[in-house]
Amino acid sequence: MSRSEKLKPAVRLKKMRVTKAVIPAAGLGTRFLPATKAQPKEMLPVYDKPAIQYVIEEAVAAGIKDILIITGRGKQSIENHFDRSIELEENLKAHGKARDLQEVQEISSLVNLYYVRQKEALGLGHAVLCAKSFVGSEPFAVFLGDDIMDSQPPAISQLLDVWDRYQGPVLGVLDVPRELTSAYGIIKPQALSADLFKVDDLVEKPAPEKAPSQLGIVGRYVLTPDIFEMLETTKAGSGGEIQLTDALRRLNRKRPIYAVRLKGHRHDIGNKVEFVKATLAYAMKDPNARKPILEFMKTLVENKGRF
Ligand code: UTP
Repeated sequence: MSRSEKLKPAVRLKKMRVTKAVIPAAGLGTRFLPATKAQPKEMLPVYDKPAIQYVIEEAVAAGIKDILIITGRGKQSIENHFDRSIELEENLKAHGKARDLQEVQEISSLVNLYYVRQKEALGLGHAVLCAKSFVGSEPFAVFLGDDIMDSQPPAISQLLDVWDRYQGPVLGVLDVPRELTSAYGIIKPQALSADLFKVDDLVEKPAPEKAPSQLGIVGRYVLTPDIFEMLETTKAGSGGEIQLTDALRRLNRKRPIYAVRLKGHRHDIGNKVEFVKATLAYAMKDPNARKPILEFMKTLVENKGRF
């Protein structure tokens, strides 16, 4: 047997790598009205970039090659943002704004982007189901377009490390205050180490007294294609929506699911107060903005909110 033939079985058994991602961005953003009436919340600028660009940059940093964005009516600005803008490029060129030009050109060449429309906002589970043809038979990452994770290594890389080890679905979780469990999918954890869990059960939006833990699922997942069979037969649950958590709960009866407590800071930009905090946090990273904003904040604090 030649050396290359001997290597063949090892190649066949090679672990699957995650190169595809799905970003559901078809929600109605009702917590952020009126700003989100005609504008997707994923396009709201967090300091100087739309929220969804941070999420895509995280995916790219983790080696994701192809991203499907689930959009809906009124979400065309997402596509426009990641497309070329020839007129703008010509204008920047003519005015010698080389840095701005480079920046806008880079946005349109970040990664391979695909789009599909969720025709009705029937829930996160239904939005993920819209990715079935794109995903095919590969594992894939899911990023919620309204959760920005500021972390190093990128949040999704922390999930991918667990995927590499167990080759099973992985959920990103964070400790949430007990009184807020009803805003999250909550896991019943079995600790494998300090920050790694096997999921014994999951419940969508449990009341604080019924929550099996305070570990809430946040907007990062690594999923396997067998989730689609579950989603296809999952009935509307909490809030009348088809919930991803309910489908995961059923999948968990067939195969182990893991969860990792994420290191880093999460900004839920679908929430007005958290959005303002996120904008300030990213402005602090810009040396030109840091000082004037801190001075303004100091004045605000000294004057008890007035200026
Ligand atoms: P959310 O519940 O946070 O988003 O869904 P929402 O429905 O837009 O917001 P509110 O609660 O009304 O303010 C989590 C993620 O799932 C997507 C959303 O875009 C968001 O990124 N989603 C939700 C869909 O893509 N389709 C849906 O039908 C529901």
